[in-house]
Amino acid sequence: MCGIVGYTGPKEAYPIVITGLKRLEYRGYDSTGVALLNDGLKVYKKKGRVAELEEAIIGKDLHSSTGIGHTRWATHGEPSDINAHPHISASGKLAMIHNGIIENYAQLKKELTNKGYKFTSETDTEVLLNFIEDIQENNQCDLLEAVRVALKRVTGAYVILLLNSATPDTIIAARKGSPLVIGVGKGEHFLGSDASPMLEYTKEVVYVNDYELAIVRPNELILKNLGNEKITPFVTKLDMELAEIEKGGYDHFMLKEIFEQPSTIHDCLRGRLDATAGTITMSGIQDNIEHFKNAKRIIIVACGTSWHAALLAEYIIEELCRIPVEVEYASEFRYRNPIINKGDIIVAISQSGETADTLVAIERAKENGAIIFGIVNVVGSSIARISNGGAYTHAGPEIGVASTKAFTGQLTVIAMMALKIAKEKNTISEERYRNLLLELEAVPEKVAAILKSAEDIKAIALKYKDAADALYLGRGYNFPIALEGALKLKEISYIHAEGYPAAEMKHGPIALVDENLPVVFIATKDSYHEKIVSNIQEIKARKGKVIAVVTEGDDIIPGMADDVFYVPAADEIIAPMLSTIPIQLLSYYVGIAKGVDVDKPRNLAKSVTVE
Ligand code: F6R
Repeated sequence: MCGIVGYTGPKEAYPIVITGLKRLEYRGYDSTGVALLNDGLKVYKKKGRVAELEEAIIGKDLHSSTGIGHTRWATHGEPSDINAHPHISASGKLAMIHNGIIENYAQLKKELTNKGYKFTSETDTEVLLNFIEDIQENNQCDLLEAVRVALKRVTGAYVILLLNSATPDTIIAARKGSPLVIGVGKGEHFLGSDASPMLEYTKEVVYVNDYELAIVRPNELILKNLGNEKITPFVTKLDMELAEIEKGGYDHFMLKEIFEQPSTIHDCLRGRLDATAGTITMSGIQDNIEHFKNAKRIIIVACGTSWHAALLAEYIIEELCRIPVEVEYASEFRYRNPIINKGDIIVAISQSGETADTLVAIERAKENGAIIFGIVNVVGSSIARISNGGAYTHAGPEIGVASTKAFTGQLTVIAMMALKIAKEKNTISEERYRNLLLELEAVPEKVAAILKSAEDIKAIALKYKDAADALYLGRGYNFPIALEGALKLKEISYIHAEGYPAAEMKHGPIALVDENLPVVFIATKDSYHEKIVSNIQEIKARKGKVIAVVTEGDDIIPGMADDVFYVPAADEIIAPMLSTIPIQLLSYYVGIAKGVDVDKPRNLAKSVTVE
């Protein structure tokens, strides 16, 4: 969480930094700030969005060729002008921005307070900054050395960028656990939490690794580790275009991303699935095929929407591959001393590839000898890099905070992966395998067909926008979609929503049902159809309002439901990729009708890099 940007070079830094911050605002948006170096340090910061800061500093002296900027998701201290980054050191010579959490900040603060330091903010960042300055003054060393010494004492996660008024063209950076990309231009360098701030200037980037420090000047990039040894920067080429991070005529990124799904799913399948030849080409699986074939179990770790994809993966992999699967919340897994044996396969699912809990969970598992397989969207992200093998979802940049196209990308990868392993293990008949390949191939077209009914979904969404609560129910492969539907609704409409296995509602949630409660059934034609029809009857008998996602041609549920969303017929393993689309649109239109900023809902951030 939090977005960081930096620039040093011949151009004006401020426009680059402020534009970069707008692109990174999805990472946190409760306050914003910039620090510019030119004849001393100038710091402007403010509670609120990037646009508010921009407006507030019109007419100020913004001239500088070295600058840093920050957009915050508050951890220590409420969103306020004072807690906003950058922070300035006691001497006034250093300015710093930080993404992450310094876990031992209280101890460091005590030590500094005993030495007479005073703090203006409640942040851990101001503590770390003064700790660095204190070391620099005591040791009479340069700033990089002080940072190096300080970071050896720090526990937690960080990316920091520092400016020093004594070295006007230099940015010092360091990372552990939070992402940092450095763009290499001609006589200039760019820094960012991801590559979006530098896209129009350079495609050459260096992904900084944990425990690395960087000295960044216009014509020089020096990387070192915490042991003060030099590291050769590894420059990679970005495969991303500016258009991918723009709204492209849509009102919101979320809507654009929902509508991109026919092409993102197609991109995910492209070059991998060949239904005519009957093949799936996934080198990440192929390279580890013996491990997968012989696996006694697979553990999947993830958070949020990615966890819902993991749950569906459990159902699909167990059905097709006959391998036991355990699905874990990464945040629980990392702390509960799980039993991990050498050679166990841990699959990490993550859109951002930076989620702190998922990242640490797999780091621990890897230390214990597990093989890590990453299903990740962001190319070059930390989880992708730490994994022993993996498969990208190829959904392109997802900027709306609510995950949509990344989720269907994850489901696509999971389906291909399960089919490939099942084929290799011989746990699937040739006929079913071939049929599922054809089904998968047809998904983009079917998703496009569902999107054509967006206006109908919008009309239904308006009917339910004032609901106080909602219940989402599904069985079997559609149960994870019920969970996902409830999550999507609460995060972007602020309506309290619960997802449940449809049959489980009799054990408690049914007490909530009355004429005011919308109950969304994910009820496509599958082996549970008759059962879910009974569950719908149970809700109707208690006067609940039923909204059902059904398969085209269903002649039972539409007669019972108050409102219906139709999706094309599909195999029950594939159907969740379709039933999730109306659910996404329902949340989007309810959120819009309620006036929520759906791309940046309150309290959330896209990339959760703190635990
Ligand atoms: C919900 C959502 C979050 C993320 C979660 C994990 O719409 O986006 O629940 O799914 O924070 O993030 P990743 O997938 O980046 O690890």
